[in-house]
Amino acid sequence: MQDRWKSALQNNYGTPSISLVKGSGALVWDADGKEYLDFLGGIATNILGHAHPEIVTAITNQANDLGHVSNLYAHPGAIELAEKLKALTGEASARVFFCNSGAEANEAALKLSRLIGRKKVISTIGSFHGRTMGALSLTGQIAKREPFLPLLKGVKFIPYNDLSAAKKAINKKVAMIIVEPIQGENGVVVPDLGYLKSLRKLTKKHGTLLALDCVQTGMGRTGDWFGFENEEIVPDIITLAKGLGGGLPLGAMIAIGDCANLFEPGSHGSTFGGNPIACASALAAINVLERDNFLPRIKSLELNLKLEITKSPIVQSVRGSGLLLGIVLKNKVAKEFVSALQGEGVLANATSDSVIRLAPPLIVTDSQIAAFVERFRKVATSYER
Ligand SMILES: Cc1ncc(COP(=O)(O)O)c(C=O)c1O
Repeated sequence: MQDRWKSALQNNYGTPSISLVKGSGALVWDADGKEYLDFLGGIATNILGHAHPEIVTAITNQANDLGHVSNLYAHPGAIELAEKLKALTGEASARVFFCNSGAEANEAALKLSRLIGRKKVISTIGSFHGRTMGALSLTGQIAKREPFLPLLKGVKFIPYNDLSAAKKAINKKVAMIIVEPIQGENGVVVPDLGYLKSLRKLTKKHGTLLALDCVQTGMGRTGDWFGFENEEIVPDIITLAKGLGGGLPLGAMIAIGDCANLFEPGSHGSTFGGNPIACASALAAINVLERDNFLPRIKSLELNLKLEITKSPIVQSVRGSGLLLGIVLKNKVAKEFVSALQGEGVLANATSDSVIRLAPPLIVTDSQIAAFVERFRKVATSYER
């Protein structure tokens, strides 16, 4: 597999160590038949795990009816999904633009912000908003930006979770500030409660749009539909992707209030955005999470995992919310620890030398959580000797 990968694919991901061929719920199997607990979930994407029967049925039926249609025509799935997302925001003014990925959702937010007649944008240090040139211009990670300079002008980066920096930076010339409710790629960094609420007040005062990038923290990941709900605020823009499509490529930029009607015919578009099959998958995923009441359970899984994982002496702390957790190790062994976990049949990833990220499917079972804890402890014990 590795030789074929290297000779046919570009090297932007490095060469993967395994090839996955099958999945069911929170389990996946590699080409050699080895079973893994998938505690990364396509990086916070497979909210119903793998091959969920209701997603399989929804996308099969949709493919039989109508697989793709251009945005010159409506189709029922996009309307129903937009209505559903609008209902989840609780805002009658909300309007949805569909695309295919998180980067595209943030590109759309960036373009929308230009239409209020201001050009400056604020983002945060350590943030991740995507890899396309516009989304990369919003991304506060030097290593990812540097090879591609110059990026878009007018983007200022301020420290995350630093209100006084935000107070100094936001003024009537700033079109938008974009913030993740939790910095996922930066190692699951959680801001103080009240940070987003204060940003909401500040942005309101200056007429600056508040865009909350919920690509990683949306669709139930934190136990709420959107990662900011603990702050009881209404942003101007919400961006979504990852879990939204239930495993299929789908992104959304939801605009609320005055900015909801800024796009006009011709302002923006995407050939595949809101594709019928992706919408059918998203609707099935949301339906299952709602009907089977999965979200209230997420918080207790969080508490249980935090409690059990912090018992290992090698662990400094566990941060995060719901089923987006960052295990902070006392030593810089996260990468080798993740390899050892893989050896024990667990998939997770290291966001840095000392942080391991978990983002399992939201339908992970209690016994799978217990199996994860057992295997985690086994690997941790080998480091404690
Ligand atoms: C918060 C956030 N925004 C945007 C993106 C980019 O999403 P995509 O890879 O779908 O373009 C990511 C991906 O990790 C993300 O975590």
